[in-house]
Amino acid sequence: MNRNEFLLQIGTGAAALLVPACLSTLSGCSDSGSVPAAPTNVDFTIDISSGALSSNGGFLVKDRIIVARTTSGGFLAVSAACTHQGTTIQYIGSSNSFLCPNHGATYNAAGQVTSGPAPRSLTQYNTALTGTLLRVFS
Ligand code: FES
Repeated sequence: MNRNEFLLQIGTGAAALLVPACLSTLSGCSDSGSVPAAPTNVDFTIDISSGALSSNGGFLVKDRIIVARTTSGGFLAVSAACTHQGTTIQYIGSSNSFLCPNHGATYNAAGQVTSGPAPRSLTQYNTALTGTLLRVFS
């Protein structure tokens, strides 16, 4: 067996191992099974007097929830894991929406999918501001 024959056999063997893994998911080679479940029984507070939430358009991730301050000063809270493959999403203040930097899925302010490949909406949480304490809860 020469070098080319050897490499051809190795490549064919590797492809034979990989193809069934891709075919076992109807969505190609996506890894949607690894998306963490949205947090439940949520109830925490954040002091917004300093840090990312002290100014309009800022956001942070706490306990797997992304909390954002809109450009008009309101607050949003949704599950932070993209429903496609679990990448942590980002808040885009200029469009008041969320973006997954991995494959480009977008969600509106309520966490509903506006552009794929994300298959499901994010989970939305309640927010309530008392002074400088922002409560995020289920
Ligand atoms: S992980 Fe693929 S779009 Fe978010």
